[in-house]
Amino acid sequence: MFYIIASPQSGVGKTTLAIHFTETLAKEASTILVDAEIQQTSFQWSQRYARDFAYEHLVFDPKDHNQLSKRIEQLKQHYRHVILDISAQDSPAFRSVLMIADKLIVPTVPNQPDAEALKDMAHLMVAVKQYNPELKAYLLINKAPDHDPVALEEIQTLLSYIPDAKLLDMVLRDRQEYRDTLADGKTVLSLVNPIAKDEFAAVVAEVLNDHPTVL
Ligand SMILES: Nc1ncnc2c1ncn2[C@@H]1O[C@H](COP(=O)(O)OP(=O)(O)O)[C@@H](O)[C@H]1O
Ligand SMILES: [Mg+2]
Repeated sequence: MFYIIASPQSGVGKTTLAIHFTETLAKEASTILVDAEIQQTSFQWSQRYARDFAYEHLVFDPKDHNQLSKRIEQLKQHYRHVILDISAQDSPAFRSVLMIADKLIVPTVPNQPDAEALKDMAHLMVAVKQYNPELKAYLLINKAPDHDPVALEEIQTLLSYIPDAKLLDMVLRDRQEYRDTLADGKTVLSLVNPIAKDEFAAVVAEVLNDHPTVL
């Protein structure tokens, strides 16, 4: 399976989600995380962390129609799961990977401007779905504060109207554990306290069970 974790915005949790998602899938089958982000957060993290999964940092030309997708196709021959961490700017390269993806997960943070910014992404999805009708797209609310359920509901209502993308019922709360573990080159999955990891596992289960697949 080929999963893309993407968003037009930075700081919304793409890399965090990609690392945790990869680590979860790697427990069951051979999995590679492909970091195509310019910022290289996951590269820095990968240098510190004793990973149980393969990792590749890819530098690509956004204008190139097949460089990125060709590399992904090669990796799919060797790994059961390929996870791509990439910024979602509309470009030939980004479109080329959307064409061959099974699932796209778009994290967003719960505030109005960030949610509004996803509307361009929605237009892109409509275009790509014509060529890859099997693509499943999910929106995930990340860093949700505990104290403001009304604001969260408003954002959920706003995002539920985005066509061709399913808003996940599960949300990830804003948890200090994500920042702390990243700084130590770890993930919340390594923590003894199960709250953060159970929450993450529930998100993964919702994504995987939506379109039943064998891990
Ligand atoms: N659910 C969360 N709770 C708290 N902090 C988070 C959460 N998700 C991500 N973060 C933190 O937010 C920052 C940005 O996350 P990152 O994954 O690097 O975003 P992106 O890849 O989209 O730029 C990091 O410091 C990360 O530790
Ligand atoms: Mg990142």
